[in-house]
Amino acid sequence: MRGAVQLDHVSFAHAGQSLRAIDDVTLTIPAGSHVAIVGPTGSGKTTLGYLLARLYDVDAGAIRFDGVDLRDLGFATLSQMLGVVSQEPDLLNASVAENLRFVCPKATGADMIAAAKVAQIHDHIAALPEGYDTLVGEGGFRFSGGEKQRLALARTILRDPPILLLDEATSALDTRTERAMSQALDALAKGRTTITIAHRLSTMAATRSGVMSSLSFTRASDPLSRRAARGRGRARPG
Ligand SMILES: Nc1ncnc2c1ncn2[C@@H]1O[C@H](COP(=O)(O)OP(=O)(O)OP(=O)(O)O)[C@@H](O)[C@H]1O
Ligand SMILES: [Mg+2]
Repeated sequence: MRGAVQLDHVSFAHAGQSLRAIDDVTLTIPAGSHVAIVGPTGSGKTTLGYLLARLYDVDAGAIRFDGVDLRDLGFATLSQMLGVVSQEPDLLNASVAENLRFVCPKATGADMIAAAKVAQIHDHIAALPEGYDTLVGEGGFRFSGGEKQRLALARTILRDPPILLLDEATSALDTRTERAMSQALDALAKGRTTITIAHRLSTMAATRSGVMSSLSFTRASDPLSRRAARGRGRARPG
């Protein structure tokens, strides 16, 4: 598994919508590169993420991972290839440890703690009376939005996918934690195809190092968006 991502004339409209959320987008993301997808609210960024995760299928065109159409990949293979850290991660109504390990049953306790440290959430978990056995969700411990994101990030680190999709992954964090997590994400992004979704490039530029290309997404209603997601090729050395 290398992790090249290719969008080939992809179009998609949500059910019941006449306007396409994604309109004829063609884009090649080489394996191991880091691309930021930037655009205003409603421009289709999260929808693009859903298409990559195959929560929806494209209406036209194709998405390929390492040259293979997503529709020809089994869901098990797809979930091994792509890790998603979103604004509203789903956590199981189970212990912290179970939430982290269900994606990777072979992971040892040490693996789990190492992943939680990279995600900047270990200290918080360790300080809870029941530590990693703390129950999450209904009737259990309520984690904040930022804590949930970091738990989801730890889970993704354990799974170790070649392609990482971060949808506003640091939006729920305060500045200090965001900086710490950005460093963790930088370490994680190394040697891995990383697609970061954000409203503004500047929020990442402040904390991110390394070379990253940015890609602008305009609104679907804008006629210019027929060629919306064209790489602007703005590679920035850190
Ligand atoms: N389930 C849905 N059904 C119908 N329309 C939808 C659905 N989800 C999103 N849309 C519409 O598709 C368009 C793109 O939405 P999307 O969530 O991808 O935007 P976004 O770029 O991620 O925005 P934000 O920056 O606010 O997260 C919007 O016009 C939105 O209203
Ligand atoms: Mg979104």
